[in-house]
Amino acid sequence: MDFELKSLSPAQAAQFACDALVVLVPDARPAGSAADALSRLVAQVTKAGDLEPGVAKQLACYRPEGFKAARVHLVRAGDGSAASVRKAVAAGMGSLRQPGIQRVAVVLSLLEADDAGVRAAVQAAADATYTFTTTKPSGKARALRQLVLGVSQPAKVRQGFETGKALVTGVEFAKEWANRPGNHATPSMLADAARKLGRHARIKTEVLGPRQVEALGMGSFLAVAKGSAEPLRFIVMQYSGGSKSSAPVVLVGKGITFDTGGISIKPAAEMDEMKFDMGGAASVLGTFAALAELQPAINVVGLIPSCENMPDGMAVKPGDVVTSMSGQTIEILNTDAEGRLILCDALTYAARFKPRSVVDIATLTGACVIALGGVRSGLFSPRDELAMALQQAGDASQDLCWRMPLDDEYAEGLKSNFADMGNVAGRAGGAITAAKFLQKFAADLPWAHLDIAGTAWKSGAAKGSTGRPVPLLLQYLIDQAALDAVSAPKPRKQSSARARKS
Ligand code: BES
Ligand code: MN
Ligand code: ZN
Repeated sequence: MDFELKSLSPAQAAQFACDALVVLVPDARPAGSAADALSRLVAQVTKAGDLEPGVAKQLACYRPEGFKAARVHLVRAGDGSAASVRKAVAAGMGSLRQPGIQRVAVVLSLLEADDAGVRAAVQAAADATYTFTTTKPSGKARALRQLVLGVSQPAKVRQGFETGKALVTGVEFAKEWANRPGNHATPSMLADAARKLGRHARIKTEVLGPRQVEALGMGSFLAVAKGSAEPLRFIVMQYSGGSKSSAPVVLVGKGITFDTGGISIKPAAEMDEMKFDMGGAASVLGTFAALAELQPAINVVGLIPSCENMPDGMAVKPGDVVTSMSGQTIEILNTDAEGRLILCDALTYAARFKPRSVVDIATLTGACVIALGGVRSGLFSPRDELAMALQQAGDASQDLCWRMPLDDEYAEGLKSNFADMGNVAGRAGGAITAAKFLQKFAADLPWAHLDIAGTAWKSGAAKGSTGRPVPLLLQYLIDQAALDAVSAPKPRKQSSARARKS
């Protein structure tokens, strides 16, 4: 799909030739002169009470007078905020999913859309028209070919537009991989996708196999992979956009390509949904795809431990004790708590990059789904500054998260008589005890954990990946790049002279 940002006044929008116009109408609209067809139509419709105030209420008009486009959808955009724009565009575009509709203009010129509004419009249009066809060739592919964003002053919102486009690339990359069934997204296939991203000039990809992972001493990751015939992969990606001396952000994504639970096997009902258990990995890959497009000035490392969690004669058994790369031993009381077992070794590995921050992203616990549902991801971090930066990135990108506690008392249940810790701690506070387990491996790193079990995909009729939290992650990285730009020491003669003296 192709996006274009264009200057479109109401008069120009009416004269714009395309298959459909989606016109966002804010509740509070300054009464202007109704000289053009669009302003006239909006004035008539609102006067007649045919388009009630609110968000996403719409009126579809066919061949209205004075328009070039055959279909004109007027959609209420409430207060005109990014959140309202998103809902309005989703509604408008959602009702235009037909084979004949290939070129659509979304008209934002009736509201003062800012960067966030334009970005939201681009994302919502892509979201509303996305379809997964890889394993369903008979499915209706996206008909939309071109989306034109009509605004009054394109130069003012160019940045939001570019970010929006990169986000669409990233989110759709993540959706593609998360939606694939387990036999179309094995650890080796994920590694191949990462290698492909590595063709980009600023991205380097390295893939480790079982022998190398064993040599690193990742006994915990190896234990999970043991029960599967599919070999594990440890994917290491590096995006270099910042200066060599700039410490990277490390993103760690849980890459369980299918989670049966292992010997602690899951019930049969809805077990198919455990193909989404690499949603964290998919979000890291998607973020890298977006970085390649947007090219912000920052360094980022992506780490993806990937394997299947299967029951087998070779599989790890409840009660087995393994030694992690950190040297800490773990009693595996429940083989279904496997995500933390692969992430802990990746966190230990992360330290070698001397990162400015480490953020792991994982469909980690059913308990987090119970706690926060599908609206907000769980955010855990002992560092206030990092937690705040992530929370703000989520707010700004409309990819929300909610900070959860990490009191040491929550770690009590992880005690074991046979190892340094157990891998589970009972049902109470399950999302938090999982985070407490990971925290034992984050050591002194500035670490945060995002539990996306509830937000990475939807079940029910609209079953599928959401591509979250790519928007949050990309926003955080953009924010970090901006911080660097402000604080980077400008080369000055005086300061270097002073440095020599001291
Ligand atoms: N992948 C699951 C978590 C999950 C469950 C994600 C439901 C999305 C929906 C994870 O590996 C798991 O099985 N966790 C267990 C942990 C328990 C054994 C302590 C869980 O949540 O039940
Ligand atoms: Mn599990
Ligand atoms: Zn899992």
